[in-house]
Amino acid sequence: MGEPCWYVTTPIYYPSADLHIGHAYTTVAADALSRYHRLLGQDVLFVTGTDEHGQKIERSAEERGVSPSAFVDGVVARIRDELWPTLRISHDRFIRTTDPGHVRVVQTIFARLKDQGDIYFGTYEGWYCLPDESFWPDSRVHDATCPECGRPVERVQQPSYFFRLSRYQDRLRQHLVDHPDFVQPPSRLNEMVNFVEQGLEDLSVSRAGVGWGIPVPGDPAHTIYVWFDALISYLTAAGYLTEPEQFQAAWPPDVQLMGKEIVRFHAVTWPILLMALDLPLPQRVFGHGWLLIGDTKIGKSLGNVIDPIQLVEKYGVDPVRYFLLREVPFGADGTYTEDALVRRTNVDLANDLGNLLHRTIAMVRRFNDGFVPPFRPGIAEPGLDRVAEGVRRDVAESLAAVELNRAVEAVGRLVRAANKFIEDRQPWALYREPGARERLDNVLYSLLESLRVTSVLLSPFLLDTPGRIRRQLGLTTEVASWDESQWGQLPVGHHLDEGTPLFPRLERLMTEAAAAAPGPAEATPAPPPITMEEFGRLDLRVARVEAAERVAGTDRLLKLTLSLGESTRTVVSGIAQHYQAEALVGRSVVLVANLAPVKLRGIVSEGMVLAASEAGQLALVGPLEPVAPGARVK
Ligand code: MSP
Repeated sequence: MGEPCWYVTTPIYYPSADLHIGHAYTTVAADALSRYHRLLGQDVLFVTGTDEHGQKIERSAEERGVSPSAFVDGVVARIRDELWPTLRISHDRFIRTTDPGHVRVVQTIFARLKDQGDIYFGTYEGWYCLPDESFWPDSRVHDATCPECGRPVERVQQPSYFFRLSRYQDRLRQHLVDHPDFVQPPSRLNEMVNFVEQGLEDLSVSRAGVGWGIPVPGDPAHTIYVWFDALISYLTAAGYLTEPEQFQAAWPPDVQLMGKEIVRFHAVTWPILLMALDLPLPQRVFGHGWLLIGDTKIGKSLGNVIDPIQLVEKYGVDPVRYFLLREVPFGADGTYTEDALVRRTNVDLANDLGNLLHRTIAMVRRFNDGFVPPFRPGIAEPGLDRVAEGVRRDVAESLAAVELNRAVEAVGRLVRAANKFIEDRQPWALYREPGARERLDNVLYSLLESLRVTSVLLSPFLLDTPGRIRRQLGLTTEVASWDESQWGQLPVGHHLDEGTPLFPRLERLMTEAAAAAPGPAEATPAPPPITMEEFGRLDLRVARVEAAERVAGTDRLLKLTLSLGESTRTVVSGIAQHYQAEALVGRSVVLVANLAPVKLRGIVSEGMVLAASEAGQLALVGPLEPVAPGARVK
């Protein structure tokens, strides 16, 4: 492979539990970009994989009473062999950090950095956020909670190897300033520049007492810090130290996608690691936003996960991919609801696109006996060709800027323009108008050609839909090149069969969505049975509302001060549209008291109050008889 290769990565995911729609979000985005670059004729290296070492995985395995390696093997198999095939992810390589080849690369790099004085031995004293697997110095931690995720951090004191981040601080700062595209979107770049300007402390890159990790070469009492191991996977997967030609072609990555919470690792530790290895830095590190349910990030540890496999089984792969790519501005947070997924499919795909195809084919059959008419230059230009060219440019520009939602949205513009074109040109009137045959031919051709172009423009994003459109247009080939999105390539003269609906399940989708209860619970399938013991792990308490106020800048959130008798708690609750703050004071509610704290709008929320919801109405749950605050509910 002598040609340069377009290299894109997703984060490698922790196989601490099955992955959810949030992980699918990043991976589908990387898949769409990869498919686009392949259509451009580029060699593509698309890598995803799993981050299998570290304390979090070690503990998850322990809780289930299995060895870490047996545990990860099971989860990884479901990710690699079920989840990604279900979403038809077209990655070229799947890297596991337990691959022996990767272990060797990590140890080689560690030893080299130690030899050159970038890694040294010392003592670490500070904090550790286990769910994030991240170290935090005293200067950034307040109230023993993680500055990133708001969950409790653990105190750690241990002998440790350190990576000399401080040595590269100025070079990194300069790189960030000189390459404003390096970290995107721009708001994330500013955060990173601020972070670096506060001063970088050397990073602890080993753990004593964590057995599930790559041993430090020459000092097996220590294992290498999981993030150090994980970042190197991007090098291993590209063939670093093992496949020189592949590596030469692929390095550096063109786009590295991730959620915003891990941009710091990729915009600070990662480039410094590459500087220390004398390797070019990635072109672009893109931190997208989170999929939320209500105001809360979908996450394994919050227990509000949505299983993408179930969604695909219910709605098909294209609606799920379409929703993920189209719904939320790439870079911003966005809310997931199953209702929104159904609405998107119905409005954009079933109505706008499906109807355009259906009406167009029906008109060709009615007004031209089903034959694709010739296009007749010289007759007044119908105008859709210009729209199509503009849209094609916008899609390409948006994809070059990793603005996936804008790219998909642009395709919708062509579809809507074509629908409007039918109303404007009124083919049925032209059909009756003497001498309008040639104009009618051009109108019909333009509509068919818009659909063909749409099938090409959609093919990075949707998988079955482009082929279904094309077969109805009498085309037997799959889309092979982005150049096919240029106007004027539809063959003429062939006969079209009667059309079939593009999304025939529209009605079923509508009724299912209408039947589902609205509110955050709507997207969650009925959970499986649990044992009394599992129920007993919930600490439910009666709590009295002492104070309540609206969280500034939101219209959904109330900050509640709750008395549990002996103690008080602060809880942020998304009920502001259903309850006046003042009206709650003095009332008794039920609190899930042992929910891990989360930070919402800068406030640490220590639990959750229970509410029932039906048909958009919400009712807080409380005891029927007066009970002292703090009483256990069981
Ligand atoms: N193992 C590390 C990454 C190492 S990369 C060298 C890790 N893994 S993870 O399993 O926690 O996955 C985090 C990634 O999953 C996020 O960066 C993001 O790409 C994706 N998402 C997880 N939840 C998400 C949402 N709710 N919304 C959007 N993306 C989310 O961090």
